[in-house]
Amino acid sequence: MIHKIAVITSGGDSPGMNAAIRAIVKSANYHNIEVYGVEGGYQGLIEDKLSILRTPDVETIANKGGTILKTSRSLAFMDEPGRKQAVDVLRNYGIADVIVIGGEGSLQGAQKLHELGVRVVGIPGTIDNDLDYTDYSIGFDTTLNTVLSSIGRIKDTGLSHNKTTIVEVMGRHCGDLALFTAIAGEGDIISTPEYKLSPEQICEKLQDKISKGRNDNIIVVTERMYDLDELQQHIEEHMNIEVRTTVLGFIQRGGEPSAFDRILANKMGVKAVQMLMEGESGYAIGIKSNQLIQKDLKTMLDEKTDKQPSYDLLELLLHTT
Ligand code: F6P
Repeated sequence: MIHKIAVITSGGDSPGMNAAIRAIVKSANYHNIEVYGVEGGYQGLIEDKLSILRTPDVETIANKGGTILKTSRSLAFMDEPGRKQAVDVLRNYGIADVIVIGGEGSLQGAQKLHELGVRVVGIPGTIDNDLDYTDYSIGFDTTLNTVLSSIGRIKDTGLSHNKTTIVEVMGRHCGDLALFTAIAGEGDIISTPEYKLSPEQICEKLQDKISKGRNDNIIVVTERMYDLDELQQHIEEHMNIEVRTTVLGFIQRGGEPSAFDRILANKMGVKAVQMLMEGESGYAIGIKSNQLIQKDLKTMLDEKTDKQPSYDLLELLLHTT
């Protein structure tokens, strides 16, 4: 029987992380397991920033964005001495079991802890949805909804002025946010890392829309792909139209988590506690075809390639944009 679990949120925060923390604490406490919250990700672990989290501490956090534990992208944990220090800290507290909530880099850290003999389960928490082994990560749905409602506002003014707008969304190297935005009806033209359009191709598509009477088009692009000033200028000059650009930025990462993300967080949080209770370690929890799955962390990280949109999604996009 395990008596203590540490929980860490790491990397970029995502809406729903708090719901996962709540589920972990409540489910662990139900089984008489004590939970230690690590403040500030792996860096906080190295610096011995642990404190007990009890059910009353987490009762009211499910609707809060961000992470009450705070987070970081720790450079020290990338080196062996930092990791060994982290393991020593855990040993001093008598903690052998850890749950890590975060994206790819955080799950890499989880695997490193596993290799050092700590029992670890990872939960995917990232707005980017860039982990190939799982259909959804906690936070993606909320961010997608934020993007949709933000573009809705941009459209009101674009329509009033017959103006084309470039909207840059997050996603790091993954186009899911842009792709799902278009499928949900808020992107007329999209360009993602997986299917990058040249400025000329964007103009061609725009010409097609304009010839069909659409003058208020939204061009959704994934971050890090273009110099947006250059792209705007290119379109304006080649199409002889006025274009505006909006970078949605960090507005996408905050906010109240959606029902979907909260429920996903609960499912994954409870499963993580169960897995540790059963002595399992070195896994990442995911969801495929609406079923929770567990994937060996090392295999997942070794196999990881850039996530490709499924054929079904591309078909949907083809028929609806
Ligand atoms: O991974 C989440 C994310 O928000 C990405 O979409 C974005 O590229 C990155 O984090 C921004 O990172 P930072 O908060 O370090 O600027």
